Order: sequence, then structure tokens, then C-alpha cells
Amino acid sequence: MSSDPASRAGAVLEIDLGGIVANWRRLAQKAAPAACAAVVKANGYGLGAAPVARALAAAGCRLFFVATLDEGIALRGALGADPEIAVFNGPLPGTAAEFAPYRLIPVLNDPGQIDTWKRHPNGPAILHVDTGMARLGLSAREFAAMADQLPKSGIAWRAVISHLACADTPDHPLNEQQRTRFASAAQRLPGVPPGLAASSGIFLGPPYHFDLVRPGAALYGVNPQPGRPNPLRQVVRLSGKILQVREIDRGESVGYGAAHVMKTAGRAATVAVGYADGWLRSLSHRGCGYIAGKRVPLLGRVSMDLVTFDVSAVDPALAHPGAMIELLGEHYGVDDAAADAGTIGYEILTALGGRYHRIYRDAAGTNHPA
Ligand SMILES: Cc1ncc(COP(=O)(O)O)c(C=O)c1O
Repeated sequence: MSSDPASRAGAVLEIDLGGIVANWRRLAQKAAPAACAAVVKANGYGLGAAPVARALAAAGCRLFFVATLDEGIALRGALGADPEIAVFNGPLPGTAAEFAPYRLIPVLNDPGQIDTWKRHPNGPAILHVDTGMARLGLSAREFAAMADQLPKSGIAWRAVISHLACADTPDHPLNEQQRTRFASAAQRLPGVPPGLAASSGIFLGPPYHFDLVRPGAALYGVNPQPGRPNPLRQVVRLSGKILQVREIDRGESVGYGAAHVMKTAGRAATVAVGYADGWLRSLSHRGCGYIAGKRVPLLGRVSMDLVTFDVSAVDPALAHPGAMIELLGEHYGVDDAAADAGTIGYEILTALGGRYHRIYRDAAGTNHPA
């Protein structure tokens, strides 16, 4: 008889679907009467597009955004026929015919994609106009040249969108510039619902909400207002298993490069998580974990499959092989790990690895293994 997956895994990732639903409701309430979609690209920011989207659909979310056609096809399989699914990257050359069978709505980002979709009048599309991001979407010049024809193009426009470059910096002057550029572009498409705000944009206030908002990161607990209290729930807990605990003398080094030298004698716990699991190497010397609410600093460098913590201050009855160290959770959230790693919460989430044993907790608190 084989052991259970949780026993075999070096770490357990618990995903609180009830928390994600609560975050979506919070954002939807803040943006009302605008409709609130959900962005579940990159496998639901690393947390599982299918379980996340199913939970949100059950809570009333009617429109989901993914990045790629393949993500859209997979999500259609997970969600069934009902909710709308839009694909940010739009139809890449040779793929336009594959949207209709899965009832996927392309986001059209350039004149070539618009032209292609006109020749595939299979269903609605979303128009993306660039207002200051210079990444995807019709440039101001392209939009000015096409604006009169767009309403008569034969395309059923489901929405017109743009994306804010600096929404997490409320005082940035580009926010207001993008908002006014977007408002005047949207006026050229009467009757087409406009949508500008993602997570942080929702917190810029009602003038940014238009008819549709599309949060991603905030659903997953990333703070949409850096530097201010996070109004959203943490939805992930990552617990790494201690493989060994050892006494280390003063002056001895720990890990690759002998990069950490013990200033005093102590105890170190080696945990079965490393950069191959998305526990970023840039957390070397900087990250931490928690045991029974007590902070344990990360020692030395993160290696591929292992990381070491200083558990000198923890009761040995708590820090022993087989015990768990909390790497992400209520004490040390996604944004805390991001700050220590010199990155953003988005990258911490999307890097979360495939070797974790995943447990999904539903709104009622019931656990479902992945
Ligand atoms: C076009 C677009 N809209 C919405 C989002 C969701 O943004 P956020 O995760 O900041 O809510 C993204 C994410 O990168 C995006 O590229």
C-alpha cells in the first residue's frame, strides 16, 4: 500500500477558495454597479484556474479572462458552456477559427486581429485600445484612423477595454491621462460596455470603474494598494516539511558558497522546498518562516530542493523532522515574501511549484485534495 500524497510531498499548499470568493465579492461590491469579471490567466495566478474559476462562477462571476487560446480551451472544459471566457492575447495567426467551437471571446489588439475577426464573424470580440501602456491594444493613431468604422465593422463588440500602467501608484499623473483618453475612445463605440480597471484600478475610485472591472491579483490576496493596509484576505498557506534538524557550532557555515556563517552556536532545520518549487533564490539570507507563530530566519542560500532555517529559538519539541514550517500564511503573506525577494506578489504566486501537495478548501471550509 502506498503512502498518502501529503506524506510524500515536501510541502503542502493550501488554497482557500472561500477566501478567493470573499475577495471577489468585496471587489464586486466596491465596483458596483460595474460588473466584476475575474482574471484567471497563468493557471489562476498559479493557484489553479479550474478550481478558482468554478468557485467564482458558483458565486456569480459571469466573465473570465485568460491570456492564451489554450488557457481558454482548458477553462471552457472546466467551466462548461455557460460563463463567458475572453482571451487577452487575441487570435494569433492561423488560430481564429478555434475560438468559436469553445465560445471564446478574443480581445482584438491590433488592426490585423480586427481584420482577421471580420473575416471570422463567429461571435463577439473585445476591443483593446492602448491609452498609455504601449504593450497591447490599438495605438492612439490606429484608433483614430479606425474609430468611425469600428461600430460598422460587423463585429459584435462585447466590450472595449484598456489597461492602466500605474494604478498601484494613485498619485501618478498617467492614471488620469489614461482615464480621460479611455473615456473619449469609449464614446466612439456607443452602447459597447467600457472597462479599464484591474485590481488596483478599482481602488482609484468610481470614475475608473466604467461598466466592467477585471481584477486578478487582488482575488488572490495581493495588496492592490501597496503601502496601505490590505483590504483582502490571504488565500494561500504554504507549509514546508522539516527533513533534518542539526546542531551547528559557532563559526560553521551553512549551505552553498558557505555564504552564511553562524555567529553563535544554534540549531538549523532543513526544509524540503527550494527554488525549483518557486521559493525564489533571491530569498537567500532574507526570507523567513514561522513555527507556532514564531519567526525563524532563513539561513544562507536557497538551493534547488532545500532551504534552511534557524530554529535555535524554537522549542525542539516543535522543530523536529516531520514538523512543518509555515512559509506563506497569515504571518508572512505573499507581499511579504515578495518584498524580501525583491519582486512582486504576482511573481511569488505564479512561481509556486508543481511539487507541492495542493489542498483546496471550499467556502464551507471542506478540504478537497487537488
Ligand atoms: C490586460 C489585463 N487586464 C487585467 C489584468 C489583471 O491585473 P491585476 O492582476 O493587477 O488585477 C492583467 C494582468 O496582468 C492584464 O494584463
